[in-house]
Amino acid sequence: IFHFIISFVLAYLFGSIPSGYWIGKIFYKKNILELGSGNIGTTNTFRTLGTIPGVVVLILDLCKGILGASMATIWGSAPHWMFMVVGLGAILGHTFSIWIGFKGGKAVATSVGVLLLYSPVMFLAAVIAFITAILLTSMVSVGSMLGFTVVTLLSVFWLHDWFLATIALVLTVFVFYRHRSNVKRILNGTESKVPFGLIYWL
Ligand code: G3P
Repeated sequence: IFHFIISFVLAYLFGSIPSGYWIGKIFYKKNILELGSGNIGTTNTFRTLGTIPGVVVLILDLCKGILGASMATIWGSAPHWMFMVVGLGAILGHTFSIWIGFKGGKAVATSVGVLLLYSPVMFLAAVIAFITAILLTSMVSVGSMLGFTVVTLLSVFWLHDWFLATIALVLTVFVFYRHRSNVKRILNGTESKVPFGLIYWL
């Protein structure tokens, strides 16, 4: 249990690194928390700082999940499910970062990084659902919420992996909760759109 706590705390610290916020502050002298959607994630970095920082933040946030989850094995081999449980530390760090007063992102990229280590096939499913939703709706938030929903459904009906299904369900609820301002905007038609995807051109 002591080993587990250390791994979890290390994952939390990795996850806590507010990449979007720091890149905005250091390289652009901008506070991303006060721009666009006010989120520190990839989408808002693209929106407010540009493509290159957006790609960098996407990679960094994915890596936070991957590295965070891999903290499960710093003491030697660990049961496979440990990746997911320790990975939750990174996801918590990303959403409640110690560096920015426990504010943080919407748990998307970091969770997907964790998922990659636990189940590459589910990672792929999430990415496909995410891209399809964006191509149809032009809204990244819809892609994020749908991606997690699809992972939950597939872990129940296809993989019959009840452990993953439970965690994925918790993450889905959490991701919806973190997107509540997006949901409001989607419902009243003011959610921001990316310049590709069907709806944008209609
Ligand atoms: O990953 C976050 C995305 O789903 C929405 O971001 O900035 O549009 O709220 P944002």
